[in-house]
Amino acid sequence: MENLKLDFRFGLEAGRLIESVIAGEKPDKLSGLQEKVEEAFQTLTREKGKGHEFLGWLRLPGRLSGEALAPVKEKAEDFRKKSQLLVCIGIGGSYLGTKALVECMTPQLTPFIMGYPRVVFAGHHLCEDYYSELLAVLEHYDYTVCVISKSGTTTEPAIAFRLVREHIEKKYGKEEARNRITVITDKERGALKTLADQEGYTSFVVPDNIGGRYSVLTPVGLFPLALSGIDISELAQGAQDMQELLCTPELDWSRNIAAQYTLFRQYLYKLQGKKVELLANFEPRLLYFGEWWKQLFGESEGKEGKGIFPASANFTTDLHSLGQYIQEGERLFFETVLSMENQNTELAVPFEESDLDKMNFVAGKRVSHVNEKAEEGTCMAHSQQGGVPVLRIRIPRLNEYSLGQLIYFFEFACGLSGYTLGVNPFDQPGVEAYKKNMFKLLGKPGA
Ligand code: PA5
Repeated sequence: MENLKLDFRFGLEAGRLIESVIAGEKPDKLSGLQEKVEEAFQTLTREKGKGHEFLGWLRLPGRLSGEALAPVKEKAEDFRKKSQLLVCIGIGGSYLGTKALVECMTPQLTPFIMGYPRVVFAGHHLCEDYYSELLAVLEHYDYTVCVISKSGTTTEPAIAFRLVREHIEKKYGKEEARNRITVITDKERGALKTLADQEGYTSFVVPDNIGGRYSVLTPVGLFPLALSGIDISELAQGAQDMQELLCTPELDWSRNIAAQYTLFRQYLYKLQGKKVELLANFEPRLLYFGEWWKQLFGESEGKEGKGIFPASANFTTDLHSLGQYIQEGERLFFETVLSMENQNTELAVPFEESDLDKMNFVAGKRVSHVNEKAEEGTCMAHSQQGGVPVLRIRIPRLNEYSLGQLIYFFEFACGLSGYTLGVNPFDQPGVEAYKKNMFKLLGKPGA
């Protein structure tokens, strides 16, 4: 079993403090924050804090046995045989986890993947041109639909589903359309559940005690992921092993990497005034992992006038855009780098006789070697020269197992961090404000 590791080498003072905590010390400079994280750990694992009724995700990986995954895999196999495309409809927590993992685990440049449908997403915005194009594309391919909404009443997926449902019923007839739609929603409430029952669509349940942004390891993520060829058993295994490491009866600072990460970020926020955390990667497939992470931490911590603002950057691409600001702009952030230790393939830089671009000094070296040096050079530049504390999360390689570990690691750290901050990490009252205004402006009855 290859594990995630935290590397505090570039973490400056914060990194040194966390290393001394790992070594068993209680540094005064942490001003009681270490004890606050310890209390938050008790609150989270004893399920006693604010929003504890939404802690279904905490011990979920341990329950994801082969038997539990079987119905999802079976239905995915049925859909796989009849679809070139899967239209996956959902927004927020009903979208980002699947999108992130599909981006990580399916080929990036191949338009069609042998044997598995390509996933196209819908319901995550309200752009008319996108839907016109989608409906035009759907004319040419065999497809199935997976509509995901816990509440069953969210505007964006509801509108997308109306459009796609009309199309699929016209294309295949009402009867066959029924065999091509799967609904993932609440077990008894909501318009989508009523519709699924009326129409006889296959449906999977989003558990009551799991909020959207913590739901990727429920059918919300597992069904579309299995359908796109991702090994959900390995994903579950990674999460289970991480649960065993983190969700223990007592907090062990030397082993609990989520507690270490929480202390690092809360120290920088509370005692060093760093208001922004930049999640960076050197791996283009992780771009949407950053989007998933932003929702997880943004919705969980950003309330009551508090919270670290979660931002993301994709290197080396963004070193040619944001890089200048990170190096020399306002010192308002710290950086967390998703650092990949191994690639799944090998490719060396070719030698060229003429050496016009002066790149022969790396000829014969793997592209990943150049990337590794870029990462190390960046960490040094940002921390030692730029004064930005950098934490590296070392990931053995990009596969389902390490993604399962990462998901649970961040979920656990997010719960812990929210409680350390003193907020309820499992609600999101602020997202209602735009909806109220939009409904009023649209003339919704009763709005
Ligand atoms: O994390 C959350 O709870 C939200 O982001 C929801 O996932 C999002 O609003 C979609 O909600 P629903 O699944 O009810 O359509």
